[in-house]
Amino acid sequence: MSPIPTLTDLEAARAKVANELSVDVLKGVDLHKTELALARNFTSDTITYPTDGMIAYAMKASRGDDVFKADQCTVALEAHIAQITGKEAALFCASGTMTNQLAIRTHLLSPPHSVLCDARAHVHRNEAGGIAHHSQATTLPVMPENGHHLTVKDVKAAAILSEDVHLAPTRLISLENTLNGTILPQDEIVAISQYARSSGIKMHLDGARIWNVAAETGASLHELCEPFDSVSLCLSKGIGAPIGSMLVGNREFISRARWFRKMFGGGWRQSGYLAAAAAYALTHNFPLLSGTHALARKLEAGLRDIGVGILCSGTNMVFFDARSIGVNYDELVKRALALPEPLYLGGSRLVIHYQTSEKAVNDLLDLIQVMANEKRAEGFVPGVLEQQPADAYYPKMKEVFIRSGTKAVA
Ligand SMILES: Cc1ncc(COP(=O)(O)O)c(C=O)c1O
Repeated sequence: MSPIPTLTDLEAARAKVANELSVDVLKGVDLHKTELALARNFTSDTITYPTDGMIAYAMKASRGDDVFKADQCTVALEAHIAQITGKEAALFCASGTMTNQLAIRTHLLSPPHSVLCDARAHVHRNEAGGIAHHSQATTLPVMPENGHHLTVKDVKAAAILSEDVHLAPTRLISLENTLNGTILPQDEIVAISQYARSSGIKMHLDGARIWNVAAETGASLHELCEPFDSVSLCLSKGIGAPIGSMLVGNREFISRARWFRKMFGGGWRQSGYLAAAAAYALTHNFPLLSGTHALARKLEAGLRDIGVGILCSGTNMVFFDARSIGVNYDELVKRALALPEPLYLGGSRLVIHYQTSEKAVNDLLDLIQVMANEKRAEGFVPGVLEQQPADAYYPKMKEVFIRSGTKAVA
């Protein structure tokens, strides 16, 4: 018979477990270094850094449990976003993928059904096949005829309204604004929405970067969201919150989405400090976005001056064609990393965020100029691409985002 553990044995065992659990993750954290690197990172606008001011504001937040709708700051942020977007209700979630997928799942009631979207849409290409998994839907990816944005003509040609049992009727149109940094013309959105409403189709907007549209055009969130039944608005992209995305729609829709959020495992508890950080970002960072866009235009103009082809550009993004100066992306990424003050690039997509420094843009242009000169000295002759007007760089539905380190070529 094994001896009965004494109290001292039990206490020793507990102390051993406590010792195993304890960890100090702050060891080695160098905030200054992170901040410097961030100012020179062109890979995404998701990487912005919560400032001391934002963290200080978030520290004062409420600490209730959001699954029980008991967190005051979360409820207040949801009410605010619902109000500015002109919708009845809002739901604060962990990510843009979650708010898109929740919206799609909530709109689609029973298969067979299909979701129509731009072939380049995040919901179709970059959400791990979530539409098929969560909503049992077929996606109808449509290539815009004009190579830039979907029109009501594109949508009418692709939407399935038929009762033919071979087909999956279109129940939802999902648009994205901005898409690759470019803005969808609002009158086209309104026309698509009118068509959708007259055909019994719901409208969702992936508005991950809708703040950039408002900052660029001065249009209100209410106007931008009006044509849609639901909108996903990311808080952790250009607007600069550390985490979060808001889904808006009517009360019944949001109640159901909240239910699905719990089912997806996304019901969260003390979300108050995250809501507060997002509120701080909206208040302090939105006014900075137009400066972000101006810096992106400076980068674009500098690239054009060097003779670099622009594949696509708008708001805070520039997609460039490294081939037009005889360079490949991997080579450029390596050279940028090897600079005394490294620059971080991800391929053809250059993203400016509110913490990108102007010096980083100048340094990047200098590096590209040096590499273009080297290639010319080695005998590279700029091809026909370089001679063509800017619009020729909108390749009809060619992928403009060529990630370094992948085999994909434009
Ligand atoms: C247009 C668009 N929609 C949705 C998302 C998804 O956001 P998250 O990364 O928060 O899931 C992204 C992410 O980059 C995006 O670019």
